[in-house]
Amino acid sequence: MRSLIDILDFSVEELNELIGVANDIIANPGAYSEKCKGKKLATLFFEPSTRTRLSFEAAMLELGGSVLGFSEANSSSAAKGESVADTAKTISCYADIIAMRHPKEGAPLVASQNASIPVINAGDGGHNHPTQTLADLLTISREKGGFNNLTVGFCGDLKFGRTVHSLITALSRYEGLNVVLISPEELKLPSYVKKDVLAKNNIPYKQTTDLESVMPELDILYMTRVQRERFFNEEDYLRLKDSYVLEPKKLKNAKKDLCIMHPLPRVNEISVAVDSDPRACYFKQVLNGKYIRMALILKLLEEAKK
Ligand code: CP
Repeated sequence: MRSLIDILDFSVEELNELIGVANDIIANPGAYSEKCKGKKLATLFFEPSTRTRLSFEAAMLELGGSVLGFSEANSSSAAKGESVADTAKTISCYADIIAMRHPKEGAPLVASQNASIPVINAGDGGHNHPTQTLADLLTISREKGGFNNLTVGFCGDLKFGRTVHSLITALSRYEGLNVVLISPEELKLPSYVKKDVLAKNNIPYKQTTDLESVMPELDILYMTRVQRERFFNEEDYLRLKDSYVLEPKKLKNAKKDLCIMHPLPRVNEISVAVDSDPRACYFKQVLNGKYIRMALILKLLEEAKK
C-alpha cells in the first residue's frame, strides 16, 4: 500500500506529476469536484493544526468526498492508552485514506505499517512534514518557474523546524542548489540533515547568524517560527523566540524577485507590514497547500486500487 511518510517516498517525476495535477485543478476545479465521491478521508491529529488539517478536509470536500476524524489526542482513545498501530487498524475499517499528525517522530510510519489504507504524514514531531513540502514546491514552481539554480535561505529554528528538514531534502535532488542556513547557534540544522542530505549530495551551504548580510544573495527566504512546543525549557524559548523579525527595512538589499516563504503559523518572525510586499508568498503557500493535497489524495487513492 503506497503512503507518503517522507518526501523521498516520491520520485522527482512523481513530484512533477503532482505539481502538474495541482496546476490543472487550479485551472479547472470543476473537473475534479466528483473525483472522490463516496470516499472518506480520516484526519487523525494528535497535535494542533489549522492549515494542514483544514486544508486536507477542504481538499477532500472539494473532490466530492467526506471527512471524519479528531483534532486532539485527548478526544481519541489514545488518551486511554491505545497504540498508534491499533488506531491505524481501526481507522482502516472506517475510511479510505488517513492523514496523521503526531508529536512522536515515526508515528505515521508505524501507522502506515499497520493500516490497510494509504497513510499521509501530516507532520511527525521535529522530524518531517512532507505535505508542507509539497505546498512549498508548488509555490516555488509557480513563483520561480522551476527548482534549478536557486539560492535558498532558511532562517530561524532550523533544529526543530520539520518543514525545513523536508524541504532541504526535496530540493537536494535539483541542479545548482545553494543553501544558506541562518539561525542562532542553539537552533542550527541537525548534523544528520547536514551529513545525510547536504554533504551526501555535494550541496554547497554556509551557516550564519546574520540574516541581513546574506539577504542580497537569496532567491528564496524561508522564514520559520521558533518551535516552542519542542523546547524543554521556557527560558531558552523566551531568549531565542525573537532572534529574527523580518521587517520591510531589512529587505532593502534583497532581490526584486525574492520569494518570501513561511510555512505558518507565524508568531513574530515576519512583521505584518511585509504582507503587502509583492514578494510575500506565505499566504499563496496556504492556498497551494489545498490544491497539492487534492492532487496527493487523488494519486494515493488511485494507487490503492492497484
Ligand atoms: N504549516 C502548518 O503545518 O500549519 P499548521 O500547524 O496550522 O497545520
